[in-house]
Amino acid sequence: MVKLLRDSCPTVSVGIVTANLLSLGSELALLERVGAKLIHIDVMDGCFCPMMTVGPPFIKALKTPLLKDVHLMIDEPLEKVAEYAAVGADIISIHPEACSQPHRVLQHMRNLPNANDPARGIVRGVALNPSSPLEVLEPLIEEVEMISILAVNPGWGGQKFFPSAFQRLERTQQMIADSGRDIILCIDGGITKANIAEIARTGADLIVAGSAVFDGKTAEENARFMLEAVRTGARSQKSGVRMGSQGGGE
Ligand code: DX5
Ligand code: ZN
Repeated sequence: MVKLLRDSCPTVSVGIVTANLLSLGSELALLERVGAKLIHIDVMDGCFCPMMTVGPPFIKALKTPLLKDVHLMIDEPLEKVAEYAAVGADIISIHPEACSQPHRVLQHMRNLPNANDPARGIVRGVALNPSSPLEVLEPLIEEVEMISILAVNPGWGGQKFFPSAFQRLERTQQMIADSGRDIILCIDGGITKANIAEIARTGADLIVAGSAVFDGKTAEENARFMLEAVRTGARSQKSGVRMGSQGGGE
């Protein structure tokens, strides 16, 4: 499954909770039309996270070939991850801040079948809040296939990107390289049309964008813009073009 995901990277994982949920079918068709490969589903429980959003029935209702990147911002997910796999999650990310035993949750996820294709397995992700030390990753890195750096506090879409995420991405890239494992690096929160090119040049594999795509006006145009910005940014990163500033964007 990591290989399948790697083949789509770098790309945008489009935050679907900010879409027009009353027209979900046409919002998904729009994303397929513009060449998106993943949708990001923010699951918030009103406990770990101030808001409540969606759960397994919503994910089950997403009829689409797009990969489902499920970001669990919920307390103690151990008993719940199997249900998310059963309704079609391809990636499940948990927060170590929300688990008394994060390593155990990841071990448990290793054997969960992928409901879309049992041969694929689930990509196991760890997402880290802006205030969590990156050292939290060290004992978990052998049991993850994806790491997400949050550039906002978990809560809601449309928050401002914390520039400290640039340095955190760089340090995480180093930790991944040192581990020798194939781990997808994702950045989540506060990505806009103004800062996506700079973020793509960091070499992140997955860039989550919700409100910058679904702004209630020009979603198709926005999605095309964001996908193209990632392709261009990644090309210039590979060819060694340096970032102008790392001050973050609006
Ligand atoms: C933070 C969530 C993010 C966020 C993305 O609470 O994990 O996925 O909602 O939304 P935008 O792209 O609007 O910042
Ligand atoms: Zn998210």
